[in-house]
Amino acid sequence: MYKLDGKRVVITGAGSGLGRALPLALASRGCRIGAADIDEGRARETLELVRARGGEGEAYRVDVGRPEEVEAMAEHFFRSWGGVDVLVNNAGVVSTGFVGDIPLEDWEWVFRVNFWGVLYGCHYFIPRMKAQGGGYIVNVASAAGLLTLLEMAPYNATKAAVVALSETLRSELAPFGIGVTAVCPMFFNTRLLESMRYTDAFEKEFAETTFRFARMSAEQVAEAVVRAVERGRLYVVPQFSGRFFWALKRLRPGFYHGALAFFNRDDLGRRLLLWMARKGLVQ
Ligand SMILES: NC(=O)c1ccc[n+]([C@@H]2O[C@H](COP(=O)([O-])OP(=O)(O)OC[C@H]3O[C@@H](n4cnc5c(N)ncnc54)[C@H](O)[C@@H]3O)[C@@H](O)[C@H]2O)c1
Repeated sequence: MYKLDGKRVVITGAGSGLGRALPLALASRGCRIGAADIDEGRARETLELVRARGGEGEAYRVDVGRPEEVEAMAEHFFRSWGGVDVLVNNAGVVSTGFVGDIPLEDWEWVFRVNFWGVLYGCHYFIPRMKAQGGGYIVNVASAAGLLTLLEMAPYNATKAAVVALSETLRSELAPFGIGVTAVCPMFFNTRLLESMRYTDAFEKEFAETTFRFARMSAEQVAEAVVRAVERGRLYVVPQFSGRFFWALKRLRPGFYHGALAFFNRDDLGRRLLLWMARKGLVQ
């Protein structure tokens, strides 16, 4: 059990979506919030909402894709707060398309934010947590990192890397009293699609449709994350569909990838996927 009450928590990507819902869930537990985002205005808005709930903290501007900025952020919070108990590496971006069609700049962009951003957070916060005698790392991956969904190779690859990094850290950091949780949600509605890069109109329409019909909200995902951290769980896969397909992939990998290939065979497969998304069957 890890008690979150009163903890000092730094969250990246805190200007929107899950990064905004988590501070609000934690504010009601008396946590102090470092709301960090590349968009400082949105980080400030999050902090105002935290304060409206009786919480406290600080808004901070950071680009997680720049190591010197992440190091400065770690230095800032450890010095001004006297320590940081929990780091949530949440900032993320998405690009879609087929390998070969996705521009290399988009691959680099997704890796810079989703993989290097998480790694920089770990690199600069973990030695400080070790020195203070403990802490907690929450890495926001995605069910995409477990399920390798179609037309999302850069996103899948970065999220799978974040899962692997988190699993490694779980064993490495246990002797230092530092817990690790990897967060792997399916789709939930946020601003993620505002910055999404895509290579054709189908991908945009499919993503927007799945977001519109998503059954779980960012607030519900945030509550699932809080519960998982308090229980010290390595993985949190909040939606049933994510847990189901992850189990199917492990038990019957040939069938699972064959089924994905079926949807990818021709235009009919794509139209079927879109129809399923419109019926709320892709969650
Ligand atoms: N929404 C979903 O369906 C979904 C599903 C699985 C995983 N996730 C993951 O959840 C996390 C949060 O995403 P969200 O859906 O809340 O999206 P969001 O777009 O609503 O929020 C992401 C935040 O990250 C910030 N950000 C982007 N690049 C940054 C950078 N370089 N440095 C600092 N901040 C940066 C954005 O300004 C934004 O405020 C991401 O890691 C995402 O991959 C989302």
